[in-house]
Amino acid sequence: MSDSIRIKGNASVANVSCGFDCIGYAISEPYDLLTIEKRDKPGIEISMSGYRSESIPTDPEKNTAGKAILSLLNSLGSAQGFKVKIQKGIPPGSGIGSSSASAAAAVVGVNELLGNPFKNGELLIHGMAGEAVASGGFHADNIAPAVFGGIILIRSYDPLDILNLPVPKNLYSTAVLPDMTINTKEARQLLPKNVPLSSAVEQAGNLAGFTLGLHESDFDLLGRSMVDHFAEPHRSKLIPGYEDVRQSAIDARAIGCGISGSGPAVFALSDSSEKAVKIGSEMERAFRKVDLNSTAYCSPIHTEPPEILG
Ligand code: HSE
Repeated sequence: MSDSIRIKGNASVANVSCGFDCIGYAISEPYDLLTIEKRDKPGIEISMSGYRSESIPTDPEKNTAGKAILSLLNSLGSAQGFKVKIQKGIPPGSGIGSSSASAAAAVVGVNELLGNPFKNGELLIHGMAGEAVASGGFHADNIAPAVFGGIILIRSYDPLDILNLPVPKNLYSTAVLPDMTINTKEARQLLPKNVPLSSAVEQAGNLAGFTLGLHESDFDLLGRSMVDHFAEPHRSKLIPGYEDVRQSAIDARAIGCGISGSGPAVFALSDSSEKAVKIGSEMERAFRKVDLNSTAYCSPIHTEPPEILG
């Protein structure tokens, strides 16, 4: 068994408009790269490099990867120590699951170095413990796709019930990251504790429509269902030019478009890689109109767990 491992943690798009806290999918790019090494004394030593990494704490109790590893070791009663080097490819505060990517790679990597005492499905709860450090809430719609890949439905949190949704052929994602940050904790605090019954009914209908659309590869139904009555009305005002960016994606023939997670990234789904790229450049252009540079990432849905590079 090796004493060190290099592993990728993928970005993800959470909420996907109608699935607040309960739907997310993984994307191929960008990703974090973790190097995890056993050390011969207890404790987790973390070092960071890459995109906005100076803003991330290296205290393992406050770091999403560190906290996830501590949770895993704690449940095993293990005192094994690790050195973790995190190279951020995913800017924190961008809305595409930066903290989850590191936490997912950390738990999968450490599990591998320990000889896989946990099945992949059992790792999620430890990843969630890590994610909670950054978001201030116990939600799994970034961490679950980061751990498993694919499009994931969290049907229930208590007890945890995680379901894989089908990934239609020719479904492409565009995620556009404007050059600004939104803190997930703050973006969660912005949301009302209760929603009107009429909004809950609309959201439930759209969520059911979205899952059926995935099952039947019915992209029109997916598009009709991609409406968010819970978070978007409150969070869209945090993203300059949001309505214009959204409209530019729809005009470029996106299936649907919305805020990725808590933003500021905006995502769109489409039915070809060419459209995904075109939509990305139109959204970048719309962000430029409000003086924001942005970067578009286009890919099919990423269906694999964190990739071990050696
Ligand atoms: N579902 C979470 C939220 C995702 O919207 O707060 C955070 O990326």
